[in-house]
Amino acid sequence: MNSTAKFIILLGPPGAGKGTQAKILHQRFGMVHVASGDLFRENIAKQTPLGVLAKSFMDKGELVPDDVTVRMVMERIAKPDCARGVVFDGFPRTDAQAQALDAALARENKKIGAVLWVNVRDQELVARLSARWICSLDGAVYNLITNPPRVAGKCDLDDSSLVQRDDDKPAAVQRRLQVFNNQTKPLLEYYRAAGLVHEIQGEQPIDRVQADIVRVAEKL
Ligand code: AP5
Ligand code: MG
Repeated sequence: MNSTAKFIILLGPPGAGKGTQAKILHQRFGMVHVASGDLFRENIAKQTPLGVLAKSFMDKGELVPDDVTVRMVMERIAKPDCARGVVFDGFPRTDAQAQALDAALARENKKIGAVLWVNVRDQELVARLSARWICSLDGAVYNLITNPPRVAGKCDLDDSSLVQRDDDKPAAVQRRLQVFNNQTKPLLEYYRAAGLVHEIQGEQPIDRVQADIVRVAEKL
């Protein structure tokens, strides 16, 4: 991929593969991966006040309020590494977040280059999330069925133990899907109006999804 700064949003429901694809883009092309969920989980692990607040919403599958979410992400993208471009994963999730992001980028004469709508059916999302395990140390993502670790229960990269996310319990998964449909999916119209949406068929093997994403990103 060429070296122009690219600001790309991966928009998709819980379990669509946003984190999986963003991590590969980071490894292959050095794109900076900004995932609001990962930033919250780092705060939870460090037991910061933001982490305590976020956990109370996340465990129920609800969105963390816009003001704290926007502040956290804006602080992250103000860091120098993000000037080279960013893959956003899980942000924005509401109209207010989308507008805050547009405004912040505009202040730097930057803008979103593409919104990749990673489309996966609900039935498949539920199956993926119930089989997801993540590394307790670095958050690397596995799937017992489609993307298993080499050694059961251990991260391929650092041998740490794998754990399940608290919000992958069935009740929280159902609520996350509802919240996505009610509050985040409408963003597609916001970005379609700006001509930015590219649909990615998310129900393909991970490498095929990656190839489709790279094809769009290369044209930016
Ligand atoms: P967040 O962490 O953003 O979670 P999410 O959007 O619900 O998405 P997931 O991380 O569950 O799925 P993913 O699309 O990354 O899929 P993955 O690659 O892991 O948010 C969590 C919570 O934080 C929210 O509910 C909310 O409370 C809060 N939050 C976060 N951001 C917020 C914001 N902006 N505003 C307010 N609140 C916010 O893949 C899933 C599984 O499938 C894995 O096991 C993987 O190995 C497997 N897999 C991946 N791709 C494939 C494939 N192609 N084929 C088969 N299996 C696959
Ligand atoms: Mg994720």
